[in-house]
Amino acid sequence: MMAAHVLALILALADPAPAAGLAVQQRGAGAEAPPKREIYAKIVDELYDVSPYTGVGAGSWGFQPDRTYPHSHLQDFMVENILNYTKQPKFWLEAGSFIGNSAILTAKVMKKRGFDSSSVVCVDPWTGDVNMWAWNKGRTGPNHFNYLEMDKMGEPRIYETFLSNVHSEGQQDVIVPIRATSLVAMRLVARLHKEKRLPQLPDVIYLDSAHEKDETLMELRDARNILQPGGILFGDDWMWEAVRGDVTTFAQSLKLQRLPASTLERFGAPGWQVTQPADGLLVVGKSGQKPESDHFATWYIPK
Ligand SMILES: C[S@@+](CC[C@H](N)C(=O)[O-])C[C@H]1O[C@@H](n2cnc3c(N)ncnc32)[C@H](O)[C@@H]1O
Repeated sequence: MMAAHVLALILALADPAPAAGLAVQQRGAGAEAPPKREIYAKIVDELYDVSPYTGVGAGSWGFQPDRTYPHSHLQDFMVENILNYTKQPKFWLEAGSFIGNSAILTAKVMKKRGFDSSSVVCVDPWTGDVNMWAWNKGRTGPNHFNYLEMDKMGEPRIYETFLSNVHSEGQQDVIVPIRATSLVAMRLVARLHKEKRLPQLPDVIYLDSAHEKDETLMELRDARNILQPGGILFGDDWMWEAVRGDVTTFAQSLKLQRLPASTLERFGAPGWQVTQPADGLLVVGKSGQKPESDHFATWYIPK
């Protein structure tokens, strides 16, 4: 029987994962030159024995990309505005990545802007949330989508689909996954930074994860704790009562100052409106729509 490490080597040679290649190449090239996407390289070095993309897309990789998920709300202009506000962030943390749509969009905008020192760290257990499990059998959810990407053995394959999507879109040099809950990952990031194993904390945190009452509040507290001053915490699904309630409670508990109109303008775009439902909390949604019933309404708490 072939030893696991020999098999991994053959797979890597058959289709070298640019992610691993990048870190190795950057380390080897100029002896002391720091890697361009330093957070990416540090996460891989500190957490993995091999690139998380090892074997992805190779002949023996048994999973297909799937870009048909119908509920990604993140827009290019939202990412652009945040990149401008945070002045070329190096560390973008996304909690709740599912099959990768929002992360891929983010990575593409970063590349379009020439931000070659920015990394997107994606955090998700990739095991399905409450709706995904409730809707999957018989595909009873919106668009009859296979939310769990369930295989013939009944296993959710959301993680493998995420890897396939990132790889097929060529964004594996920007996006690095951590397969854990948001709380585990955010506490891990805090610890790695405290132990000087990560050079900095996140500049941006995008929360599109638990969507459950109280769990969202816990995520918000941990996220704000690890966010750099001058950074942005933002998230999807203002329309969801559990999200809206916890985000509002959290923002009010911070006793933030009211933001001036000039700050609101920095997050807008034609056809979109920016409101401030609580001091220091912004909501960007489609013009003329009530944010509470707008699927695209996205909330922001600058630090
Ligand atoms: C709506 S999907 C994310 C969609 C994605 N951001 C996009 O726009 O394409 C929500 C994701 O959050 C993840 N999730 C749920 N609870 C979580 C938690 N406690 N920590 C991290 N991720 C979680 C789920 O596994 C799911 O993949």
